[in-house]
Amino acid sequence: MLGIDALAPAAGQQVLDIGCGTGLNFPLLRERLGTAGTIVGIDRSAQMLHQARRRARARGWENVILLQADMVLLDPGSVAARIEDGGGAAVSDAALATYSLSLMGDWEQAWTNMNRLLSADARIGVVDMQDPVGWARWLTPLARLACAAGGSDITAAPWQAVEKRCVDVVRASARGGHLQIRAGKRTDDR
Ligand SMILES: C[S@@+](CC[C@H](N)C(=O)[O-])C[C@H]1O[C@@H](n2cnc3c(N)ncnc32)[C@H](O)[C@@H]1O
Repeated sequence: MLGIDALAPAAGQQVLDIGCGTGLNFPLLRERLGTAGTIVGIDRSAQMLHQARRRARARGWENVILLQADMVLLDPGSVAARIEDGGGAAVSDAALATYSLSLMGDWEQAWTNMNRLLSADARIGVVDMQDPVGWARWLTPLARLACAAGGSDITAAPWQAVEKRCVDVVRASARGGHLQIRAGKRTDDR
């Protein structure tokens, strides 16, 4: 929710949902994009995509393209061709990565690959986790345990790429700083 608010995608745009999982972001994305917009969900897990496909079909959403690919290893050219084959545009207007980059190991490579699927002035939104701060610091062991159990690297801080490589950056945080939200307009990495 906070990530989609920060990204602020507009009606009719094409948005990449990077590491889309079961498609939890789809309802709110769809609300913003309307029937003319396109969601491109990319995930390396066939099981996750199966659930995402069921979610989209159950609601009768057209214009949802789901692709199985590893964001670290993928060839952006061939993924762009698959998006086009699915009826979308080869370059997207925005990308959203919620709780996914910190799971990807070499998330900087994933960032680079993602950027190659985006238009020059696309917006990018990242939501991910870090140790809680301030009053919530006492929750740190719990937060670390939850991240480790889910396979996330709580030290990855992938939103820093938005800080370093985007302009017009929107910032938010939640749950005592545990959740970090950033969105901005891309400037390079193509
Ligand atoms: C914690 S889930 C988050 C799902 C969704 N973004 C959400 O907010 O509900 C992380 C997702 O990232 C996917 N993932 C992890 N590493 C990936 C990679 N290298 N390439 C593509 N997807 C990846 C996982 O399969 C999983 O579905």
